[in-house]
Amino acid sequence: MKKILITGCAGHLGSVLTKNLLEKGHKVIGIDYLSYGGESMLSFYHNRNFKFYNADITKSINKKFLNVDIVVHLAAYVSTLGSNKYPQLTNNINYRGSINLLKAFKQYKTPFIFASTCSNYGVSKGIVDETAELIPLGPYALAKVKVEKEIFKKYKFAKVFRFGTLAGSSLRPRFDTMLNEWVLESITKKNIICYAPNSYRPFVHVSDAANAIEVAIDKWMFLNSNVYNIASFNVTKKKLALEISKITKCKLKFVNKGPDKRNYRVDSNKFKKDANFTFFKDLNYCLTEIKDLIKKEIIRDYNSFINFKTND
Ligand SMILES: NC(=O)c1ccc[n+]([C@@H]2O[C@H](COP(=O)([O-])OP(=O)(O)OC[C@H]3O[C@@H](n4cnc5c(N)ncnc54)[C@H](O)[C@@H]3O)[C@@H](O)[C@H]2O)c1
Repeated sequence: MKKILITGCAGHLGSVLTKNLLEKGHKVIGIDYLSYGGESMLSFYHNRNFKFYNADITKSINKKFLNVDIVVHLAAYVSTLGSNKYPQLTNNINYRGSINLLKAFKQYKTPFIFASTCSNYGVSKGIVDETAELIPLGPYALAKVKVEKEIFKKYKFAKVFRFGTLAGSSLRPRFDTMLNEWVLESITKKNIICYAPNSYRPFVHVSDAANAIEVAIDKWMFLNSNVYNIASFNVTKKKLALEISKITKCKLKFVNKGPDKRNYRVDSNKFKKDANFTFFKDLNYCLTEIKDLIKKEIIRDYNSFINFKTND
């Protein structure tokens, strides 16, 4: 049994991870300042091994957080569009907040997972591994890359996990991540407009992403590298749109150029090998799961599950 600090424990990924770790018998200290509420924690809040703090990672770090076996740092301002509108806020939380936390753990050298993103690759030539050049194309990826650079230089006790775009359901689902958003639009608007259809994106189901972290916690000593790609499948936006239209019968419109220049696909073999890890949930699983969530009206108020709305 380990004592684990999770920042962003109420989020899309954090809520699932926290629940899983508690179910395995670990103790979890969760911190989150609840930007989108804390209902995602209701199914595990009662667990006696869970201690929650409504705290901000950019402020001084409470000494109670420091006595842990491992840190999983997920708290961030997570929206590419929102970050473009609020670059300072993004830098403050995603860069300064992360460094604040890393500094607090430096003297203890506590194993530390920093949730980064495959967006850092920006535009990749073919399928890339962790050694590829990083081309951050906006404030969100820029802040993540800045943290990564400092980790590699000054905070070598930490490991960087570059996640593909999260997909699928969670205790706090999101409908502003590409796959989930497109399935929603295909049902509510009966239409998807697909810009830059030949651009690639890597995806990972939320539960596979949580599972990757759980396995990393168990096999920390086998992880020889300080950076891992964590993505289950790469698809072009065109293939994604076509697969969605097969199951929801929506109309598709393809527009060759779009405002988002990102086009990247990644190789996650290093993590699969070092952690002996298998991703279980593929494209079809993610699409069907989200389609069902909407069609069966399990979620009706989609707006509460969107981090950034264009009029925010
Ligand atoms: N969602 C994706 O597609 C994706 C892809 C790659 C990487 N990531 C990374 O994975 C992590 C989790 O992403 P997510 O989708 O679960 O995000 P999320 O927005 O659902 O959750 C983030 C949580 O962090 C909390 N938070 C934000 N700022 C905080 C602060 N200053 N102090 C305390 N808590 C704060 C929020 O309240 C929220 O509950 C993030 O670091 C993100 O950058 C996400």
